[in-house]
Amino acid sequence: MKSIVILISGRGSNMEAIVRAAIPGARVTAVISNRPQAAGLRFAADHGIATEVVDHTAFDDREGFDAALAETIDRHAPDLVVLAGFMRVLTAGFVRHYEGRMINIHPSLLPAFTGLHTHQRAIDAGARVAGTTVHFVTAELDCGPIIVQACVPVQPDDDADALATRVLVQEHRIFPQAVRWIVEERVRIEDGRVVVSAAPAAAALINPALDVA
Ligand code: GRF
Repeated sequence: MKSIVILISGRGSNMEAIVRAAIPGARVTAVISNRPQAAGLRFAADHGIATEVVDHTAFDDREGFDAALAETIDRHAPDLVVLAGFMRVLTAGFVRHYEGRMINIHPSLLPAFTGLHTHQRAIDAGARVAGTTVHFVTAELDCGPIIVQACVPVQPDDDADALATRVLVQEHRIFPQAVRWIVEERVRIEDGRVVVSAAPAAAALINPALDVA
């Protein structure tokens, strides 16, 4: 049984999607938040998952916070660490410690729109499509090898909230899928790019319109 530790900062709907997916061969052993008030902690506790808080405001610097966070994570001996709306910039040492076993979801079609306010920036740029990306975490923010993406149209009357809502539906779809592939050991990195074995299924996820039964 593989151990998955999920890090959140707020609502936790992506964490919820992964828990609800009940991926065979894996168990979410802990949900950890940097914010005591994170709404997602309640869902995790209600589902019998260990919850922990490492409050970043209690630390003077990033190194101290990341060291405490890593200690908390490692007590659960994770095979995979999942950043699900975890709103902290991580130190290079922390990222190195989890190299190849830490993934993140970002609400844009990377490499476009790294960082914050992705939906508004996509609208402002006149982008016709937006989307979301699940990727391995590397030291450079939102730049690691891409595992899976899904795209949605940007409608002429979209505001950032409307677009975020449309993208979130796809987040909840591709994030559990990426976790499942990793648990099934179908994901490897070759020359900095992700290869997923059984590629037809992977390709179908790129755009929901291409989905086949
Ligand atoms: C998601 O849009 C995710 O892509 C971004 O932050 C949001 C978190 O939402 N990194 P939730 O906490 O999973 O509901």
